[in-house]
Amino acid sequence: MANVKLTSEGKDFEYPVLSGSVGPDVVDIRKLYGQTGLFTFDPGFTSTASCESALTYIDGDEGILLHRGYPIGQLAEHSSFMEVSYLLLNGELPSQDELGQFEYTISRHTMLHEQLATFYRGFRRDAHPMAIMCGVVGALSAFYHDSTDISDPMQRKIASHRLIAKMPTIAAMAYKYSVGQPFMYPRNDLSYTGNFLRMTFGVPAEEYEVIPEVEKALDRIFILHADHEQNASTSTVRLAGSSGANPFACIAAGIACLWGPAHGGANEAALNMLREIGTPDRIKHYIERAKDKNDPFRLMGFGHRVYKNYDPRATVMQQTVRDVFKALKVTDPVFETALQLEEIALSDPYFAEKKLFPNVDFYSGIILSAIGFPTTMFTALFALARTVGWVAQWNEMISDPGQKIGRPRQLYTGPTQREYVPVAQR
Ligand code: SDX
Repeated sequence: MANVKLTSEGKDFEYPVLSGSVGPDVVDIRKLYGQTGLFTFDPGFTSTASCESALTYIDGDEGILLHRGYPIGQLAEHSSFMEVSYLLLNGELPSQDELGQFEYTISRHTMLHEQLATFYRGFRRDAHPMAIMCGVVGALSAFYHDSTDISDPMQRKIASHRLIAKMPTIAAMAYKYSVGQPFMYPRNDLSYTGNFLRMTFGVPAEEYEVIPEVEKALDRIFILHADHEQNASTSTVRLAGSSGANPFACIAAGIACLWGPAHGGANEAALNMLREIGTPDRIKHYIERAKDKNDPFRLMGFGHRVYKNYDPRATVMQQTVRDVFKALKVTDPVFETALQLEEIALSDPYFAEKKLFPNVDFYSGIILSAIGFPTTMFTALFALARTVGWVAQWNEMISDPGQKIGRPRQLYTGPTQREYVPVAQR
């Protein structure tokens, strides 16, 4: 095994280098502070591996994304969100029987406790769906006392299935509440994604017809959002879970983090940006703003902490725009604006030097808007799909025998000790 040498105050220290199955090696610095009195300093964790994981591998330079070893492009083309969910949770692709059993189990957990519907009525009708998702998913922690002993694998499994199954119902209800329509109950004879479409766009007054091409496109979008290594919201779920917190509360914390425009909120921000740009002739102005250090404006849906190449999910997304437009016989001029914006940005030295490419959020909003979702629902859909990733990562962490509570240290730059001065003497 290789080592890394460090010299501090004239003394030499060696730290082992650990290798994974693929990807960068890591320096194991767990003994660094005890031996040297030094912390590492890495705000934003740009050079820090927080854990071991066997779920998802990303090669940012090559634009590679694997789930349990399977390339995202192959999963998006051949698999289903339920099958990818099974893969993330269990490590292997399911047999036909295993998949059927998993889908049956998930479908039987899609209903919410009737009391939960009461929580929606506490929100204003114009509440952002992500605010509702944070609140209602957090509230779930009060309803399932039979699945909070996280040391019991069976209780972890039932909590995992409940979360994956109920997110579409919760998200659909958030939409229904915002438009003043009655909540639609789930149906067990529909697919996971078809059920979500009907709960969102169906009404009690008539039968809802799921359009297969739309169901397929949305299911593919869910696959593209399922998991993504140790991103900010996944790290939030892991950190919350490391204290032994209730799993429903941990997922609510992940939802809160995902909402930020730098993370999952970028899909809503990207479409709002594209609509603000409007026509291709205005693209240059916005490109210049994005390059201006004194202007906080950034191209939403562009850039990524890990991908320094094209996000492979954006490639699939761009093709899915065309599939949905064709299936629905619609178009949206904002797609042409997006295509031209991408072309102009990628030919600009600023974006080339900083390796800024479209990410998963750049095209997704165009598809979701064409299907009929308001922009405020985009991040709720991201949270719906990412729940399986959060849950799989949480399970991986809790079942790790070496698991410890996450507790980073700091570089303190505040006042050193000083004596209190009574107010009369200040
Ligand atoms: C997601 O982590 C994940 O995996 C997340 C995600 C997942 O599936 O979980 O992939 C989902 O969150 C995708 C990212 C969605 N966010 C956006 O599209 C928002 C716009 N993008 C940026 O805010 C930014 O690119 C981040 C937040 C995504 C990444 O930021 P980093 O890694 O901290 O990089 P940085 O902000 O330090 O940027 C590096 C340089 C900076 O310039 P300098 O200070 O070096 O001069 O690139 C510039 C930035 O100013 N830059 C941009 C830019 N993104 C980065 N300039 C203009 N437009 C942009 N979009």
